[in-house]
Amino acid sequence: MTHLIRPMLFLMTLLLASCGEGPDNGKSASSVAGGDAGATRYDEPHRPQFHFTPSEAWMNDPNGMFYLEGEYHLSYQYYPDSTVWGPMHWGHAVSTDLLHWEEQPIALYPDSLGYIFSGSAVVDELNTSGFGNGEDPPVVAVFTYHDPQGEQAGADDFQYQGIAYSTDKGRTWTKYPGNPVLRNDTGVRDFRDPKVFWHRETERWVMVLAVYDRVMLYGSPDLKNWEYLSEFGIKGDTRLWECPDLFRLRQPGSRESKWVLLVSIQQEGPAGGTGTSYFVGDFDGTTFAADPASQKWLDYGADNYAFVTWDNAPVGWGNRLGIGWMSNWQYAQEVPTQAWRSAMTVPRVLSLVEDAGGYVISSVPVPAVTGLRGQEVALPVRIGDSLQATGDFSPSQCDLSLLVDLENTTATAFGCTLSNPEGDRLVIRFDREQDRMTVDRTRSGPRGFSEAFFKGPHSAPVDMGQESLDLRILLDVASVEVFADRGKANLTDIFFPESPYSALVLWAEGGELVLFDGSVYPMESIWEPRP
Ligand code: FRU
Repeated sequence: MTHLIRPMLFLMTLLLASCGEGPDNGKSASSVAGGDAGATRYDEPHRPQFHFTPSEAWMNDPNGMFYLEGEYHLSYQYYPDSTVWGPMHWGHAVSTDLLHWEEQPIALYPDSLGYIFSGSAVVDELNTSGFGNGEDPPVVAVFTYHDPQGEQAGADDFQYQGIAYSTDKGRTWTKYPGNPVLRNDTGVRDFRDPKVFWHRETERWVMVLAVYDRVMLYGSPDLKNWEYLSEFGIKGDTRLWECPDLFRLRQPGSRESKWVLLVSIQQEGPAGGTGTSYFVGDFDGTTFAADPASQKWLDYGADNYAFVTWDNAPVGWGNRLGIGWMSNWQYAQEVPTQAWRSAMTVPRVLSLVEDAGGYVISSVPVPAVTGLRGQEVALPVRIGDSLQATGDFSPSQCDLSLLVDLENTTATAFGCTLSNPEGDRLVIRFDREQDRMTVDRTRSGPRGFSEAFFKGPHSAPVDMGQESLDLRILLDVASVEVFADRGKANLTDIFFPESPYSALVLWAEGGELVLFDGSVYPMESIWEPRP
């Protein structure tokens, strides 16, 4: 079985790899992160202004996310020596509001056991691991070691799990000398991306792990010793599963809860390539069982992969905070940015909504995002053919919020188009007859860096049979995130226009678009201007 879509990449990086035991081995931590990100001004072409990007170099999946004492931690797959994928480290950033991030020194370096692939982190309140110093709770990171030599030699056990801990609130990390803590005896080569959580009822840690075309669950009293619990998959599925997550969400209006299993799928995503899916079901502490016909896409765009959630976040059990990698393995390494590659989605709040077809997860931007809004530019409530929105905002960096009066809207389709003088355009369309929204980036900017990127448009089902439809559209230089129907349908796409989009036109086809309310807000940058 060959499961990695990127085998050549792994082999290439073997040649590049300089995976010694720590900071002395490659660039020093401070040259790529934290204080000395000197050359980066965060104003390069295509640099997002309110989404997290590393100051420089390659980033993929979000990793090791936890909240502790007012700080949100975000680690990520990081290769400091290049803008393409390579020997993986965990980069690290910290924020008090999920928006303004401060890069920290690299948290985890590759070592003799291998590269540091994706994983999670937990706040070990009860000090079950014994790593605590008696004052602060230890934070334990659980990650996959990927041994490139073993992979090259054709072994089937070159991915295994390791742990590291921090006793200074995530500032420095020590790898556990007893690593690996979970070896791969499954005979399946893909054995990675552990997401760990504390299961109250059974008083133990549970790990959900992606194992090729399914997940396996393991349990542990102390994060060091793991026993197999169960597995979950779909009969006949041959796609590669990655980056799972498992958590409880309260059912709306009830004290009961359901469990949600997030799984990223490396092929045949909703917009081609990679995408994040989920199952809603039940978990009894040992086994996860999905509700019938419950695999759904968390996002219908091309660019929300490896979406996982924060441990210990102060949001109550009706909600869950998460973030995704805003790219797609089909072209992530070819997109036209220079100093860095890839951004994260805006952090999102997940919750359960009951629908005719069972439960769905709604995702909306975290409330803090509205704090970046500048002065509102109000839109007229009736829009005929087309209307160019003008005022004190840049279409390239704004929050467009509409509450559509569907009963009085006579248009059969409506939407908005962003464009620049070079003729690049991005079209966001809501089609009432088809109950769909689409984002068309096929002419969003200069072609040539990837064929797959310009296939499209991408679309998502949206119920247009309601009295009103609320739409939130976040535009940030090189990305659009559409949240429709209170987050029940989402679509995230990136794009790379030749110059920033400078015109925003709202339009209606076959009638009038009527709004209860419509506003555009300029969005502040999260990056401090650098001298
Ligand atoms: C997902 C993924 C993970 C793996 C990591 C390697 O994007 O392939 O399965 O741990 O990236 O960087």
